[in-house]
Amino acid sequence: MSDLIAVTGATGGLGGRIARRLAQSGARQRLVVRDPSRAPRLDGVEVAQAPYEDPAAFAAALDGAGVLMLISASEHPDRVALHSAAVDAAVAAGVPRIVYTSFLGAGPECTFTFGRDHWHTERHIEETGVGFTFLRDSLYLDFMANMVGDDGVIRGPAGEGRFAPVARDDVAAVAASVLQDPSAHEGATYDLTGPELLTMADVASVLSEVRGSPVTFENETLDEAYASRAKYDAPDWAVAGWVTSYAAIGAGELDVVTDHVMKVTGHPPLSLAQVLRA
Ligand SMILES: NC(=O)c1ccc[n+]([C@@H]2O[C@H](COP(=O)([O-])OP(=O)(O)OC[C@H]3O[C@@H](n4cnc5c(N)ncnc54)[C@H](OP(=O)(O)O)[C@@H]3O)[C@@H](O)[C@H]2O)c1
Repeated sequence: MSDLIAVTGATGGLGGRIARRLAQSGARQRLVVRDPSRAPRLDGVEVAQAPYEDPAAFAAALDGAGVLMLISASEHPDRVALHSAAVDAAVAAGVPRIVYTSFLGAGPECTFTFGRDHWHTERHIEETGVGFTFLRDSLYLDFMANMVGDDGVIRGPAGEGRFAPVARDDVAAVAASVLQDPSAHEGATYDLTGPELLTMADVASVLSEVRGSPVTFENETLDEAYASRAKYDAPDWAVAGWVTSYAAIGAGELDVVTDHVMKVTGHPPLSLAQVLRA
């Protein structure tokens, strides 16, 4: 089995963290990116250029890889097609294992509409018969500060629902560990969460404390949430994804805290306060 690890998304927040961790461990890796000029500069690392939507280039970029880290694509009207094209190209290239970043509670009818894309991608990966490990990430702690409006208010239909957001650093640590010993994790699905269940009001309170200025949470109905986001003039599928990420919390679908980060990496996951202070 080849020890070459192919990593996508290395120009982004999560893939870049995974690539840096693998480089620190001295793992053999090839970064498969859309724009090589933006790939992280890491010693001894190969770089190949291929988007998910170009199967020939993507398969060529994976030549000789023993495992693929497939980072889910950025928001897109048909992410499942993009992911399926990448998976099929990897299988055609003979890559024996895929590690995929999915979403906590992914399901065909889950409230968070983007979570449905992840479910369909997981099923597509399984149907090809390739070895797999799924990393089902909760919402990223890193983005909690971005939810605050200019007026210091977080708005969304999350109600009093609880969730346990996870740091991209912890997801990257799990991924790096899995990628360096993929057979030990074959067929596993890890639910990656932070250490604590929080309501949106709790998130606002931690943000207030760390920032030293007030942040509050105002619950919205679904209709109010769609109306308050109309100003962005974004496509319907994108707005639905944003709104339903809050609604999934309100519905209790993310009310999960696990020890999977600890189990795989041997260290506890970071908290919201730790990520904000870092
Ligand atoms: N759990 C959560 O809360 C949460 C939140 C946001 C996103 N996500 C998901 O997690 C993924 C990773 O998060 P992140 O923070 O690292 O996102 P990010 O910083 O936006 O990085 C996304 C990476 O994917 C690459 N990419 C996107 N579309 C691609 C395509 N069609 N072909 C090849 N590469 C493509 C991007 O390449 P370029 O640099 O060329 O654009 C970038 O390197 C996201 O893409 C998204 O699916 C999860």
